[in-house]
Amino acid sequence: MIISLVVALAEDNAIGANNKLLWHLPNDLKFFKNLTWGMPMIMGRKTFVSIAGKPLPGRINIVITRDKNSLPLQENLWVVSSLQEAIERASETDCNEVFVIGGGEIYKQTISIADKIYLTRVDGNFTEATVFFPKLDEEQFKLIDSVTMHKDEKHLFGYSFETWEKIIQS
Ligand SMILES: NC(=O)c1ccc[n+]([C@@H]2O[C@H](COP(=O)([O-])OP(=O)(O)OC[C@H]3O[C@@H](n4cnc5c(N)ncnc54)[C@H](OP(=O)(O)O)[C@@H]3O)[C@@H](O)[C@H]2O)c1
Repeated sequence: MIISLVVALAEDNAIGANNKLLWHLPNDLKFFKNLTWGMPMIMGRKTFVSIAGKPLPGRINIVITRDKNSLPLQENLWVVSSLQEAIERASETDCNEVFVIGGGEIYKQTISIADKIYLTRVDGNFTEATVFFPKLDEEQFKLIDSVTMHKDEKHLFGYSFETWEKIIQS
């Protein structure tokens, strides 16, 4: 099973503050929905709370917490107590890819096992950020695709959709 990270980050690898995103980019939300539709996704408990504590529809939402009883039972919500359990549960589905969708703590624990990173690079500097994506090691990952999008009336910032792939060491 391919392990893919999906993240939107700005300058200094900023990804969030006050358990929220730092920007509103409708095209990035569409990209995320298309990419993950029908697939299993893994997220930390704080990210799950940030999406109003409701599973995103049309996908299996696997949420990691040290206190499984803290989250009520819901359709399409699988609550697990470790990253390993999350990956095991995802691999029990017939999907060939699992998407790790944050947040900061979970990215830090998964970047070393990621095969692929779907990275939206936001052209903005957010000094209020408190949560960050780990440094992307360009000796471990190579950029295989990049599409630049310009700001417009619905998007206050320019942004790029980048795809990074783990370099297979020979
Ligand atoms: N820009 C983006 O692409 C993006 C994507 C996702 C999220 N975000 C942002 O990131 C922020 C949230 O990130 P965060 O780092 O604060 O939190 P997080 O990674 O979403 O969740 C952290 C929680 O996950 C659980 N956890 C983490 N590691 C665990 C382990 N090894 N075993 C068991 N449970 C574990 C713990 O839950 P318990 O406390 O319940 O034990 C921990 O408090 C928000 O601002 C959100 O908007 C941004």
